[in-house]
Amino acid sequence: MEVIKTVDELRARLAREHDVCCVPTMGNIHDGHLSLVKIAAQTASVSLTTIFVNRLQFGQGEDFERYPRTFEEDCAKLEAVGNKIVFHPDEQQMYPEPQAFFIDPPKVAKKLEGRFRQGHFRGVCTVVLKLFNAVQPQSAVFGKKDYQQLAIIRHMVDQFALPICIIPAETVRAGDGLALSSRNRYLSEAERKEAPRLREAILQIRDAINEGDRKFVAMEYAAGALLSRHGWNVDYVVVRTQRGLKRPSPDDSDLVILGAATLGSTRLIDNLEVVAP
Ligand code: PAJ
Repeated sequence: MEVIKTVDELRARLAREHDVCCVPTMGNIHDGHLSLVKIAAQTASVSLTTIFVNRLQFGQGEDFERYPRTFEEDCAKLEAVGNKIVFHPDEQQMYPEPQAFFIDPPKVAKKLEGRFRQGHFRGVCTVVLKLFNAVQPQSAVFGKKDYQQLAIIRHMVDQFALPICIIPAETVRAGDGLALSSRNRYLSEAERKEAPRLREAILQIRDAINEGDRKFVAMEYAAGALLSRHGWNVDYVVVRTQRGLKRPSPDDSDLVILGAATLGSTRLIDNLEVVAP
């Protein structure tokens, strides 16, 4: 597996490649990331994983400084699933001077995650565009775990007519249902036991929808209350349309249940698509 650290080297290496599938990550690679890399390896002749902890998408008081950086272990895991190239730029490569131009994402980026993490998607879109410019891939894989991020990236690629096919990947979970996340390692033993309840609250809503219930606000409230009773600090548990992440109207059937809540000092997110009967 090749490790490349500068944009110049990357450009030179990829000059004659016409089938590159990119997997942008912030490292601390787990099986969720690896499932994306496997898709990339099957999709294109060159699978290229980027590892860069992007300061721009972290708000004040968020975990930028303590975000786990585990480059050596990451490389071993990536190599084992057949990843071809790792692009691992440092801060100087990505931001040689303070970034002054930004992607200003539309209103959808102000809701849900955007409401609780101001400027987050502006930072995500800006770095993803920069990574896309550096790599110039034909395709890129993003996880549904970050559902709103995937939706916003798709919209950005579409509006700027970037010639990149965005491939969505299903969320990979631990045996007890907890979505894998680099942030799970912040959880204490007791919190780790409690953590699958976010998924359970979402499943409770899914079951109600599958039974034909459409009183979404009541379901959202009950799911939030369940988490609060167990010590979570709930940002949101809501039902939205898959397209546009809007409040569903009576004839919407392609829905997604999204949740975000903090356990101790660890903020977790999860979601589940559901087609209402
Ligand atoms: P990161 O959190 O490292 O995630 C990288 C990619 O892995 C994202 O597309 C994310 O949705 C996916 N992913 C994370 N956990 C997953 C899981 N359990 N199952 C499946 N896919 C999972 O998302 C980012 O980094 C950054 O915002 C980034 C796009 C790299 C921009 O900095």
